[in-house]
Amino acid sequence: MSEFNDRALTQQVLDSFANTPDPRRKMLISELVVSLHEFVRKTNLTFEEWDFAIDFLTRTGQKCTATRQEFILLSDVFGVSMLVDAVNHGSRDDATETTVLGPFYVGEHKPMPHGSDISAGIPGEPLFVSARVTGLNEPLANVAVDVWHADGDGFYDSQKSSYETQGASLRARFITGSDGRFSFRTILPCSYPVPTDGPVGQLLAATDRHAMRPAHVHFLINAAGFEPLVTHVFVEGDEYLNSDAVFGVKDDLISRIKRHDEPIMPDGSPASGPWYEMKYEFRVRPGTGHVPQPLTAAAAE
Ligand code: BEZ
Ligand code: FE
Repeated sequence: MSEFNDRALTQQVLDSFANTPDPRRKMLISELVVSLHEFVRKTNLTFEEWDFAIDFLTRTGQKCTATRQEFILLSDVFGVSMLVDAVNHGSRDDATETTVLGPFYVGEHKPMPHGSDISAGIPGEPLFVSARVTGLNEPLANVAVDVWHADGDGFYDSQKSSYETQGASLRARFITGSDGRFSFRTILPCSYPVPTDGPVGQLLAATDRHAMRPAHVHFLINAAGFEPLVTHVFVEGDEYLNSDAVFGVKDDLISRIKRHDEPIMPDGSPASGPWYEMKYEFRVRPGTGHVPQPLTAAAAE
C-alpha cells in the first residue's frame, strides 16, 4: 500500500471503475469522479458542509412523488436542464429554439377544434393565439401540437385541487390544418413562481434568488419525420424575461403581444372588450428525437 495522498485517491477511484464494460458509462462516471474530487479539493469542503449537502439531497429525494420532481427542479435552477438541452440541440439551422419542458406537462391533451376557447370559465384578459407549423421550408399538415399555460394567478390546472374532479383547463391539443395553421382562444398568462415549498425553494431563498418565471405558453410539437419541438412562447415586456429562475428564455421565443379593440376576433367570433393577439411560426427540422414523457407516466413505468 503506497502512502495516501489525495491525487492518488482520485486515481484509485478512477481505477476502480476501469472494468466498466460500457465505454460511455465508464466515461460519464470517470468525468463525474474527476469533477467531484476537484470540487472538494478546490473548496476545502468541511465536514459540516458535506453533511449539509447530503441532508439537502436526501430532502430533495424525499420531496419527490409521482407528480412532483424536486430533482428536475434542482437541475432547472442550476441551469443544468437548459445546458443538457443546449448540448443536445446545438445549432438550430433556422429551426425554432427549444427550452425546458417543465413539470406541468401531463400528456394526452384533449384534441380541440381550431378556434376553441381553452380558458372556458377562467377569468383573465382574452388572448387569441394564431400559429403555424412548418418544416424548414414547407407548412406541415396534420401535426399534433400540445399547448398548456398557467392562469392569471400563476397556477397550472394540475396544481389545483379541482383538477381531479374538473379536469383540464388552459391545456389542449390542436392538429394543424393543410396550411400548417392552428389557432385558439385563451387568457393572457402571467409570470409565476416555480414551486418553493421544498428544498429548492429554500436554496433560492438562502441565495437571495427569486423564484419567478416570465409569462409564457408551452408548446410541444411532434411531427412525424421531424425532431420533436419542446418550447415556450414568452410574453414581450414581462419583468422577469432577463432573470427567469430556470434560465429558459431565448430572444427568438419572445413574442410581441398586440392589443386589439376591434369587436371581432380573427376567427370571426365576437370580442366583449379589448383582446390580445399572439402570432408565432414554429419551424421544426427533419429528424428524430426525444419525446418527453409526462411525470406521471414516467413515474408509473
Ligand atoms: C414551467 O414552465 O412550467 C416550469 C419549468 C421549470 C420549472 C418549473 C416550472
Ligand atoms: Fe410554465
